[in-house]
Amino acid sequence: MHSPELSLRARLPRIRLGRPSNRLVIGIAVSAYLIISWMILKANGNPPVRFHLDASRLIDASIAIKIHVAGALSAFVIGTVLMLGVKGRGLHKTLGYGWVVAMMVTAVSSFFVVGLNGNHFSWIHGISAWTVIGLPMGVAAARRKDIAKHRKHMTGMFVGAMLVAGLFTFLPGRMMWSIFFTA
Ligand code: HEM
Repeated sequence: MHSPELSLRARLPRIRLGRPSNRLVIGIAVSAYLIISWMILKANGNPPVRFHLDASRLIDASIAIKIHVAGALSAFVIGTVLMLGVKGRGLHKTLGYGWVVAMMVTAVSSFFVVGLNGNHFSWIHGISAWTVIGLPMGVAAARRKDIAKHRKHMTGMFVGAMLVAGLFTFLPGRMMWSIFFTA
C-alpha cells in the first residue's frame, strides 16, 4: 500500500529533464552561478543585497534587448509546459512550434546585444549559435519521427541554452539582476 504522501508525490506534475547529463549540466551551472555571484559581490566589498522591483534599466534598454527578453520569457513559459509533458499530439505540436519561434527570436536577437565582453561577442553568443543550428535539427528529427533524437535535441536546448543562459542573466550587476535586487 502507498502512503498518502507518496501518492500525492506521484500525482504532482514532474519536469522531464531527459538524460542524466541534463541534470549534471544544471548542477554545474547552479554551482558556477553561486560561486561567480559570490566572487562579484566580494570584489565589490560584499554590499548587503536587498530585494526591490525596478524595471527602469529594461525600459531604457535597446529594442534588441526588449525583443530578446520577450522571446526568452515566452520560451521559458512554453518550454516549461512542454517539459511537464502536455497530453495530446496536436497541443504538443502547436506549443512546440511556438517554442521554436520564441527560442529563434531569443537567439537571433542576442546577436544584436553586446556588453559582457565590451563591444565583442561573448561566450554566451556560442550558446545562441548552437541554438540557431540545433532548433532546425530538433524539428527535422520530429518530422522524420525520430522521437529519441527529437527529445535529445529539444531537452538539451531547453536545459543547456534556456536554463543556463537564463540563469546567468541573473548574475549580480547584469540587467535582470538589477530589476529584482540592489546592492
Ligand atoms: C529567461 C531567459 C533569458 C533572459 C531573461 C535573458 C535576458 C537577457 C538580457 C536582459 C540581456 C542583456 C543585458 C545583460 O547582458 O545583462 C541578455 C543578453 C544576452 N543573452 Fe539573454 N536572456 C535569456 C535567455 C537567453 C538565451 C536562451 C540565450 C541564447 C540562446 C541568450 C543569449 C544572450 C546573449 C548572447 C546575450 C548578450 C551577452 C553579451 O553581452 O555578450 N539569452 N539576455
